[in-house]
Amino acid sequence: MKRFILFLLPLISTLSISAWSGDVSIETPGTMLIVHAREGGDLRIAYYGTRATTIQQLRDAGADLNSSALPAFGTVDMVQLPALQVLHSDGDLNLELTVDSYEVKADDAATVHIFTMHDKLQPVTIRLFYKAYTRVDIIETWTEIENAEKKPITLKRYDSGHLVVRQGDVWITHMHGNWAAETEPTTEPLTAGVKIIRNTDGARNAHLDAPEVMISLDGRPQENTGNVIGAALCWSGNFELRFNTVSHKEHHFYAGIDPQSTEYILDPKQTFETPRLALTFSSEGLSGASRNFHRWARTEGMLHRGMKTGDILLNSWEGLYFDIDEQRMIQMMDDISKFGGELFVMDDGWFGNKYPRKNDSSSLGDWVVDKNKLPNGLSALTTAARERGIKFGIWIEPENVNTKSELFEAHPEWALQVPGRELKLGRGGTQLVLDMTNPKVQDFVFKVVDNLLTQNPEIAYIKWDANASIQNFGSLYLPKDRQQNLYVDYHLGLLKTLKRIRAKYPDIIIQDCASGGGRANYGLLPYFDEFWTSDNTDALQRIYIQWGTSLFFPANAMACHINHCPYWNTGGRVIPIKFRCDVAMSGRLGIELQPKDMTNTERQQTSICFADYKQLRDVVQTGDIYRLISPYDRKGLSSLMYVGDSSRRAVLFVYKTDNYYDQPLPRIRLAGLNPDATYVLTEKNVSVGQRPCSLSGKRFTGRFLMEVGIEVPLREEYASRVFGIE
Ligand code: GLA
Repeated sequence: MKRFILFLLPLISTLSISAWSGDVSIETPGTMLIVHAREGGDLRIAYYGTRATTIQQLRDAGADLNSSALPAFGTVDMVQLPALQVLHSDGDLNLELTVDSYEVKADDAATVHIFTMHDKLQPVTIRLFYKAYTRVDIIETWTEIENAEKKPITLKRYDSGHLVVRQGDVWITHMHGNWAAETEPTTEPLTAGVKIIRNTDGARNAHLDAPEVMISLDGRPQENTGNVIGAALCWSGNFELRFNTVSHKEHHFYAGIDPQSTEYILDPKQTFETPRLALTFSSEGLSGASRNFHRWARTEGMLHRGMKTGDILLNSWEGLYFDIDEQRMIQMMDDISKFGGELFVMDDGWFGNKYPRKNDSSSLGDWVVDKNKLPNGLSALTTAARERGIKFGIWIEPENVNTKSELFEAHPEWALQVPGRELKLGRGGTQLVLDMTNPKVQDFVFKVVDNLLTQNPEIAYIKWDANASIQNFGSLYLPKDRQQNLYVDYHLGLLKTLKRIRAKYPDIIIQDCASGGGRANYGLLPYFDEFWTSDNTDALQRIYIQWGTSLFFPANAMACHINHCPYWNTGGRVIPIKFRCDVAMSGRLGIELQPKDMTNTERQQTSICFADYKQLRDVVQTGDIYRLISPYDRKGLSSLMYVGDSSRRAVLFVYKTDNYYDQPLPRIRLAGLNPDATYVLTEKNVSVGQRPCSLSGKRFTGRFLMEVGIEVPLREEYASRVFGIE
């Protein structure tokens, strides 16, 4: 057997060579991940958690430090599932990885630790990366697989990362849902066997099951106490999160691209980079892990908007659906500007020449103005917006096409399809997905945005939709023997196009929408400013949907709109305007109805809501979230708060979710405040015609608010309160 030799490549960093002697501590301000290179073997993962240990202490304490950092098929014992499996060009299925070198690259924002490994027999190189952020408690991990064989190899499994979690009373919380019912946190204990969370939509990956999970280490998950590991796979396509519980001591967690239909073929001299898996650890419960993700998203480039706040907007969809025309657009702009809004977005229905978009069965692909609906073009609308002191935004769905469109007539080969098989048609009975693996299609999609923005430089906002899954698994662009790369190459093509758009248009605001929240993921958010949380805008349902979404995504990314009532999506439910406003105020506020049909009270309340929101918006959109009482706990109310300005300011939201006689509603204990400071509560968005409640204007110490708590008056059905706290 070859003797294990450890090389140290020249370090491009401030760390000295002697800092590494086989154990590497990968550190963020409050967390650490320890890996250990074992002589004669592969890289081992020893620890991930709070920054309170050394490897020696772990050894002394009897910890098991023997799990492979990246278990490979051919090296791992057969009970531990592989994170990596390669079919070599000669049919060999094994990998035995040994570490060649360790390199560190550091800049102000992060330190990247790179372990380069090679197989003992075949010329395949694996690089395993850990990127530890300097200012936030997030470590990203991913791999590169380099094929130096003479022929293509097949990546049968290529996870982004692997973690080992000591068994105990370990629970997981993962997001499950559907169209109009996104992100229901599903909470369950980890038990023996394999647990797989997977999404195979092809184009979107956050409806049904989403690519994030919280792992609570101290029993049933709590919001503000307990040790939690959070993991988010930064990828927009099919994924697999996998837990394997076989040994007596450990759960193994793996996350990566779903290899079921994508055993990826990698050509010689090519390197495949897996998506990043972002990990956090917090001892402040689920909310603590959420805060880490939100800070990372906003400050480290995972959300294009960063720390900026979003405008208050009116979107035309639920008010008009396809019934767009110039006069209605101008009327809506009039209304939103009178309420104090800042942006108007014209949704679906504005385009199509030969085939005007009257409903969802035609026109996708034909991104020209429907002259009948908008005789004076888009410039009449951007001018009208400017004259009213608001911005103008527009809806597109550039990755999709209807068979009834000029684009499909000109380029049927651009749609994903399988020669000889009947087309499976989506929305409207005619919708297909364009082939984003094809550079010509990538160009087309780029030009949809480029043409709109060069011809209408006043457009300030784009809503980018994606309403179809990949149902026709075939590309006329990819060679026959590369069809299995489609699911992955689609997203690589999409990312390439988004990068090109962002290089030219860094400042345009782009909303990421996919039949609601189908694409809320950290694979796409670096190119988008926000996402449409759900096509369900019923305020009571939104409390639940926004709760789940906030586990991983920050409030300035989460579009929350006031809807019209009765609301068709929830069987005609009528919810008072005050409650609707209060729920939408807890994210990026907007409105989605026909203002013309609003009552006077609704109009007045909306204006109050907009004015108050402007005072609170920086704390809501960029502050730290503390979820206090979950609607899922069925305690009769739900409550959350945001804390900003170094705990000097906060905003508290309280919503009554049930309404029973003699129902004891819980007292609300706040969090995240300075215990020794004195705070004044001021009720905001007070109901039209009513006075602020008795708590408004009262002073309390932070300690009182956090340890004793307040009784918030909530009498009627759908009662709710918003407090500014200073
Ligand atoms: C999707 C979106 C909606 C709306 C429609 C338009 O369903 O989620 O918000 O834009 O498409 O067709």
